[in-house]
Amino acid sequence: MKNSSRRGFMGKAFGAVAGVGAVAALYAMKKTWDPLPSVKAAGFTTLDMSAYKENELVTEKWRGKPIFVLKYTPEMMSQLTEKQKGRTISVGGSDYMVTLGLCTHLGCIPSYNADEKGFLCACHGGTYDFTGDVTKLPPPRGLDIPPFKIEGNTLVLGEVGPEYSQMKETGITL
Ligand code: FES
Repeated sequence: MKNSSRRGFMGKAFGAVAGVGAVAALYAMKKTWDPLPSVKAAGFTTLDMSAYKENELVTEKWRGKPIFVLKYTPEMMSQLTEKQKGRTISVGGSDYMVTLGLCTHLGCIPSYNADEKGFLCACHGGTYDFTGDVTKLPPPRGLDIPPFKIEGNTLVLGEVGPEYSQMKETGITL
């Protein structure tokens, strides 16, 4: 039973990988139509957080690196443990995971399973919860959180705001 549910998770994860190409193509098209929500200048990426949909992972880019953005559903928000709250970024009354999209083990790109609400890194089987915290080794820590500053309803990646400083001080991210 455990094995079959794991296979189910793996199957969905690999299915999700196939979906990533389609999502990337749509993303590229959207970028052509509309400069928002992502405006890039001088090493900063500005994200309009009102543009994201609940439980739908979006991969943005900051300084050439993939950035995962995941808006929580009210149910996900209500399930947050204190530790998970520490990794969460609140903007405009909604909660988000914003992390580098690179596994902290050897740098593969984990895939998100929206049904399971978790990430699987197919390279060596590491898993993360929906806040990006590690739930199964070998990744040594949760997904890293890029420097950010909250400005109204936007998040400026590459700037350091008080919320990010606190995450650094408390060891939530490197
Ligand atoms: S690179 Fe992700 S588990 Fe090894």
